[in-house]
Amino acid sequence: MEPEGPRDGFLLNSRLDFSVQLKSLHSMLVLGIETSCDETGVALYDDQQGLLAHALYSQIDVHADYGGVVPELASRDHVRKLLPLCDEVLAEAGRQRSDIDGIAYTAGPGLIGALMVGGATAHAMGLALNVPVLGVHHMEGHLLAPMLEPEPPAFPFVALLVSGGHTQLVLVKGIGEYTLLGDSVDDAAGEAFDKTAKMLDLDYPGGPRIAALAEKGRPDRFRFPRPMTDRPGLDFSFSGLKTFTLNTVTAHSDADTLDEQTRADIALAFESAVVDTLSIKCRRALEETGCPNLVIAGGVSANRRLRASLEAMTRKRNARLFLARPEFCTDNGAMIAYAGCQRLKAGQRDGDRILAMPRWPLADLPSMEAVCVDGLAET
Ligand code: KG4
Ligand code: ZN
Repeated sequence: MEPEGPRDGFLLNSRLDFSVQLKSLHSMLVLGIETSCDETGVALYDDQQGLLAHALYSQIDVHADYGGVVPELASRDHVRKLLPLCDEVLAEAGRQRSDIDGIAYTAGPGLIGALMVGGATAHAMGLALNVPVLGVHHMEGHLLAPMLEPEPPAFPFVALLVSGGHTQLVLVKGIGEYTLLGDSVDDAAGEAFDKTAKMLDLDYPGGPRIAALAEKGRPDRFRFPRPMTDRPGLDFSFSGLKTFTLNTVTAHSDADTLDEQTRADIALAFESAVVDTLSIKCRRALEETGCPNLVIAGGVSANRRLRASLEAMTRKRNARLFLARPEFCTDNGAMIAYAGCQRLKAGQRDGDRILAMPRWPLADLPSMEAVCVDGLAET
């Protein structure tokens, strides 16, 4: 017999509705859990007092020897770190588990095993505490992260999402109202940084390491292509740039090694090409939509050269740039607590199924008004 997931979920929702309505007269305290990849992030967000506490454990050392994230090791480490981090944020905020009014966890996209750890923990805690639980879209978390800053952006805005798995331009009219303007046809910008770092013998994650090496680079040594900027459109492609970089590395290597200055020059040429390409597409997206606000989010938005370039571009156009603080550009629990709180307050919550979706298009997200069962609009 077909399991009655959504209907069960709906019954559970009805049982919880009353308590949530009562609590919504007061503030709502949401525990946010992020375990989509190699960072365990936990935060407590109160819809009236804002962010109360957050904690992050990065698994970089666990994966360092492998040159990238090993999914099984990631899942096991989330199991070890998640509950201690939950206790840590509660202690930091001076709150008890019984004060929690709702739990938000990353339901995708991400590594299936890692997502399952966060989802199973969130649902177990939700049952024990009798509070609603909601699976949150990781990229929605990223794009709403600038809302945690003292001067949050107003809707509508154009968002550039640049992470290890995504390079997207999105028109955001409100929470859950996302129109995809442009996407990567191959590698994401963060992925291109990570792969280029390997060519230059740098460790994972490559983005910050390339940025540090590029500081010593000379800007007039190499000029790399700015892919897909010579034709109209808002899509991205970074795989050709990656090949161009590899060819440059090979051409300048002597017995398989590059001298230090050439490594730095290549790092700078690569970083400048990515930054210029992203800036050109962002300018186009602002022009095409007539929108005066630009948000950048995701790990690559921590890049200082990218932030400075977009700051200059928006200032020139009388537009405004909104950014999360660097620690909330990369994966974190605060963005999940914030995004989850907005949707939980609107009455959205999971049924009794744990959601874990390795692939989950942002455009499939329900609007805030939708009656939502298991993270999807009810049909
Ligand atoms: O958002 P994120 O933490 O995880 C994903 O959702 O993928 O992004 C991680 C990506 C990695 O590819 C990393 O190399 C890149 O963000 N990154 C950077 C910088 N910091 C992180 N790329 C360029 N410059 C940085 N400073
Ligand atoms: Zn991310």
